[in-house]
Amino acid sequence: MAQSTPHGQVDPADYYVAAQSGSRAERTFHAARLRLLQDAANTSGRRVLDVGSGAGFLAVPLAVDGAQVTGVDLSPSHIAAMDSHADAAGVEVEGVVASAAALPFDDESFDVVYLASVVHLVSEPGALLREAERVCKRDGQLVVAGPWRFHPKSIKAVKRLLGKKVETTSWPFTVERVQRYLLRSRLVTRTVDRPMGYVVTVWSPDRRK
Ligand SMILES: C[S@@+](CC[C@H](N)C(=O)[O-])C[C@H]1O[C@@H](n2cnc3c(N)ncnc32)[C@H](O)[C@@H]1O
Repeated sequence: MAQSTPHGQVDPADYYVAAQSGSRAERTFHAARLRLLQDAANTSGRRVLDVGSGAGFLAVPLAVDGAQVTGVDLSPSHIAAMDSHADAAGVEVEGVVASAAALPFDDESFDVVYLASVVHLVSEPGALLREAERVCKRDGQLVVAGPWRFHPKSIKAVKRLLGKKVETTSWPFTVERVQRYLLRSRLVTRTVDRPMGYVVTVWSPDRRK
């Protein structure tokens, strides 16, 4: 899967490899991003769904930390790469090839659902967000994260870090836009982090409802 791209040394979907053996800038960026995602929710011993899991950048470390993880991705080759990264790490991650817009799981099946670096890739993110909310338990957490259109204040730092063309997104990821798509309104945003133009929001049930 590893190859040269305008963004770095490896396939953009194989951030698992980029985080371990990419350029120094890639390793720094992904290490920071992974830490934020891991800190966003309490996952140890819990049932976790990683939607758009790619090659297991997040799914594998979460399994190493003791979560029971399922990764869903449209791409069979990304799921196969996740399997081999999980094997190498000595953990099990259930891999499912499916669309994030039609998740093959019952309502409220997971304690924590992640959508990491995936909503900004699709033109109609509403279905993804609603599906993620549907399969998340009522007392669970939904973590939505991705690069937003880099803010002028962060663009310099990101360019310095990544050294070249940074990833841009046609669908700017903002908390407000994501909020608009979370229609059942039982979720409220709890925390928002935006280091290096990477936005992480954690949505939790509104306990007043
Ligand atoms: C940029 S990678 C992010 C991988 C990982 N979540 C991370 O944060 O490093 C996006 C992944 O989402 C997958 N993807 C894109 N659209 C999808 C969809 N509609 N349903 C399921 N997976 C999707 C792609 O195949 C790719 O593996």
